Amino acid sequence: MTIDVVILAAGKGTRMRSDLPKVLHPIGGVPMLGRVINAAKGLGDVSITVVIGHGAELVRERFADSGVQFVEQTEQLGTGHAVAQAIPNFREGATVLVLYGDVPLVKTATLQDLLQASENGPALLSVVMDDPKGYGRIVRDSLNAVQAIVEEKDADNAIRTIREINTGILAAPGNLLAQWLPELSNDNAQGEYYLTDVIARSVSENIAITGVIADDPFEVAGVNSRAQQAELERALQADTANALMTAGVTLLDPARIDVRGNLTCGADVSIDINCIFDGEVSLGDNVQIGPNCLLKNCQLAAGTVVEANSIIEDAIVGETCTIGPFARLRPGTELANGAKVGNFVETKKARIGLGSKVNHLSYIGDAEVGEGVNIGAGTITCNYDGVNKSKTVIGDGAFIGSNSALVAPVEIGAGATIGAGSTITHEVSADELAVARGKQRNISGWQRPTKKS
Ligand code: UD1
Ligand code: CA
Repeated sequence: MTIDVVILAAGKGTRMRSDLPKVLHPIGGVPMLGRVINAAKGLGDVSITVVIGHGAELVRERFADSGVQFVEQTEQLGTGHAVAQAIPNFREGATVLVLYGDVPLVKTATLQDLLQASENGPALLSVVMDDPKGYGRIVRDSLNAVQAIVEEKDADNAIRTIREINTGILAAPGNLLAQWLPELSNDNAQGEYYLTDVIARSVSENIAITGVIADDPFEVAGVNSRAQQAELERALQADTANALMTAGVTLLDPARIDVRGNLTCGADVSIDINCIFDGEVSLGDNVQIGPNCLLKNCQLAAGTVVEANSIIEDAIVGETCTIGPFARLRPGTELANGAKVGNFVETKKARIGLGSKVNHLSYIGDAEVGEGVNIGAGTITCNYDGVNKSKTVIGDGAFIGSNSALVAPVEIGAGATIGAGSTITHEVSADELAVARGKQRNISGWQRPTKKS
């Protein structure tokens, strides 16, 4: 089956009250249009045309590398008019699948069902709603065959009681749409060219319509306002949380996790409350994440424990590491197995070797730290001279005394010891002790000053 997907994304989204085009607003960290494109790509080898209008340049830019084609609808004259803009992109013998950039949670499996139903003529996706207000109603005859879609604004009271509504999503032979769409009329309550009128046209030509009923209303729900966006965000997060638990992940509260991208977990992973996973995150077997952590684009290998309130971004963490509480691993951090990064420690572009410890109150940036190194509380790598960044290299087994400043570029040899409070500006060779601080003087018989009367 040749499938040409058309995604409508030209509308203004007035009720979002935003400068950002509506379809670029995210759900689960991904722009709504991106989700729809991904659902379509899940169908396999399809061509995708996105109809853009309001904010066209921004939408084009954002999806320039996504392999979709764009056509511009300069005036929004209705959904039928919008699909008609894509007719030049229809391929010979293709089935056209119409999707919406603001219906972000549609699933590939549902689209497959719809496409299957469209083999002999148009198929539309409907859903039954408790409150169908505002939607186009599906009108069926006594044999339950679809007769037409009537928009709310064109409906009489009897039709308004129908609770089966049009999701807008439909599949139909491209040659029929290419013939019918240019012949639509806009003689209706909104003065628009309705895509939905192809249903009545099909019936009038004795081509039967197949209705496929979606079972999850969220899957076909559109976003017109921030409140609806938030509602779908919660629905998606609940789904993701359920999928994680089904896969064997412990969530201390499934209502308090946010996944804005892809989270993959090994066996027996446990995640405490209020954690956010952004971008691509993978957690190995038995990883434990404490409360209030933010993890973005990172990999944590098996057995690693992240304590409360830690932030990890663009980092690679080995097995059985301990991170936090209150640690911040910035981009370019790599921890070897068994490394420890403790409270109020910030790392950036830092490789920390096997079993090395940076337990308290430190900044380790642009650094290479060997194996079995102990970095005392309050140690700072002074990596920036106000113009350039420089590197600190610390050899295996070195011991850095508390409150040391390592002024980069500088190298500390393997097994070297740095006395507490040192400011190190020159290389220290292997196994040497370096002490670089004012010598202690004790003054006996010292009299404290007294208050002048
Ligand atoms: C449409 C359907 C209605 C259905 C509802 C589901 C029609 C005539 N009606 O109504 O039966 O119940 O969706 O949500 O199709 N768009 C364009 N260009 C246009 C007009 C619209 O790109 O000229 C895009 C919009 O950006 C939007 C989508 O098409 O993403 C739907 O348009 P909208 O005006 O919201 O349709 P509804 O009136 O909601
Ligand atoms: Ca409308």
